Amino acid sequence: MNIGIISFRALNKRFSYEEKRLKEEAIKKGHKVHLMRYQRCMMTFEGHGTLGIRYGKRPFPEVDLIIPRASVLTNAPLRTSVVEHLQLMGLPMLNEYNAILRAKNKLQTLQILSHYEVPVVKTAVVNNSKYLKQATRYIGTFPIIMKTTYGSYGNGVAIVESQRSVKSTYGILSDSVGTKNIILLQEYIAESEGKDIRLFVVNGEVIATMQRSAEDGDFRSNVGQGGSGMGYTPTEEEIHMAVKATKALGLEVSGVDIIQTKNGPAIMEVNANPGFKELEEISGVNVAGKIIEYSEKFAQEYVAGSIV
Ligand SMILES: Nc1ncnc2c1ncn2[C@@H]1O[C@H](COP(=O)(O)OP(=O)(O)O)[C@@H](O)[C@H]1O
Ligand SMILES: [Mg+2]
Repeated sequence: MNIGIISFRALNKRFSYEEKRLKEEAIKKGHKVHLMRYQRCMMTFEGHGTLGIRYGKRPFPEVDLIIPRASVLTNAPLRTSVVEHLQLMGLPMLNEYNAILRAKNKLQTLQILSHYEVPVVKTAVVNNSKYLKQATRYIGTFPIIMKTTYGSYGNGVAIVESQRSVKSTYGILSDSVGTKNIILLQEYIAESEGKDIRLFVVNGEVIATMQRSAEDGDFRSNVGQGGSGMGYTPTEEEIHMAVKATKALGLEVSGVDIIQTKNGPAIMEVNANPGFKELEEISGVNVAGKIIEYSEKFAQEYVAGSIV
């Protein structure tokens, strides 16, 4: 089949490891691949309900499925509207537009996971600095974690040691990553000791796992912040949680982060566009190959539905 991979990286940046690996695996399996840049996609409207799209100066290539690599921080709904557009044109999408948006928004993720009774970390969300004291009182003890609703790679996440830093941190976070005043205050899971686990879910199954540890002197386990990974075998409970969280958000492919709390595992976040460089290295699993394998099945079984 013909697979389109849409990169959201800056035009002056090369394609990512993941984009190149997906292309490589797809070609190995006999598919034709169009690795594209979202900046070159021009959405068109003809009137009379005709949505169209062009790619640069050319018609958009004929594809049977799209894998969007939507690494966007700010303005996610607008920046990923190409995904919605292609989906409205009837193309199968791994992952689909609304599921990507749910996962990108940490507040919406918490709402959905809690609704489905998936354990999360105790959190208070404020949209006004007036209520910071109430929120910290609700969380209980310092340190606390403060984070923006959108953010990735550990950017937009702060640890705050005392009440005195809460308001100024709120100010800094509110101004960053375009999330305005909505900030999450969260219980700090000290017992995790800077570690969490990443479970990679494809087609309702955990296909690879690793544990990540924060660099000395940090609390964030993100590889982008100097964190490092090692092998890990998940428990049945962790597998069940990861699969349930992925389904709840409507994702087909996800990277679920689980943190160990004194009350058991809890979901830290669910990534709709998970990286897998370290994961492939550490687990030895061909993650890209598994995604491509699933996309064959997904494209065959896909029935275009209404998404708006
Ligand atoms: N409540 C918390 N308690 C302990 N560590 C946390 C907490 N929240 C975040 N962290 C650490 O910070 C990292 C980044 O937080 P996360 O919410 O996943 O943001 P991002 O989307 O930027 O990765 C996590 O992987 C974890 O290591
Ligand atoms: Mg994270």
